[in-house]
Amino acid sequence: MIKQTLQDAINEQINKEIFSEYYYLSMVAYFESEDLPGFAQFFKVQVEEERFHGMKFFDYLNERGGKVILKGIENPKTDFESPLQVFELAYKHEQYVTELINNLMDITIKENDHALRSFLQWFIDEQVEEEATMSKYVNQLKRINGNGQGLIMLDRELAQRIFVPPVK
Ligand code: FEO
Repeated sequence: MIKQTLQDAINEQINKEIFSEYYYLSMVAYFESEDLPGFAQFFKVQVEEERFHGMKFFDYLNERGGKVILKGIENPKTDFESPLQVFELAYKHEQYVTELINNLMDITIKENDHALRSFLQWFIDEQVEEEATMSKYVNQLKRINGNGQGLIMLDRELAQRIFVPPVK
């Protein structure tokens, strides 16, 4: 059985992961409206990743005999100015998620839950990749600097992204 403090913290994280899914879906909508299908595809895959993260916590809490309590999802931002702004926001969001995961790990260590600590390590590593991906495209878009041809080329590259469910 998992401690109440940890159950509450995991339920909070499930909410944040599902919010992330919703936030990125809002970015998909923006790119669809801008006729940038490759950028939209990139964020569709991100939506699937976030669903995977949320469900990973969801399944784990059940496995530990905890109770999943779903809460309301915050409204995501719906107006975006440019592809660069979207990636800057996504990068900032991933940094925020990293902070949440680190806090969750801190509570876990304090509560001395070794099993949860082992489970969370996957997320600690995953966040390094999440931040690196967003940061890479922020830098590329800065170099493109609004150039139409550059954007089309990047759109073609991003169209190749597919969701591969990580090995659990
Ligand atoms: Fe679930 Fe993108 O962190």
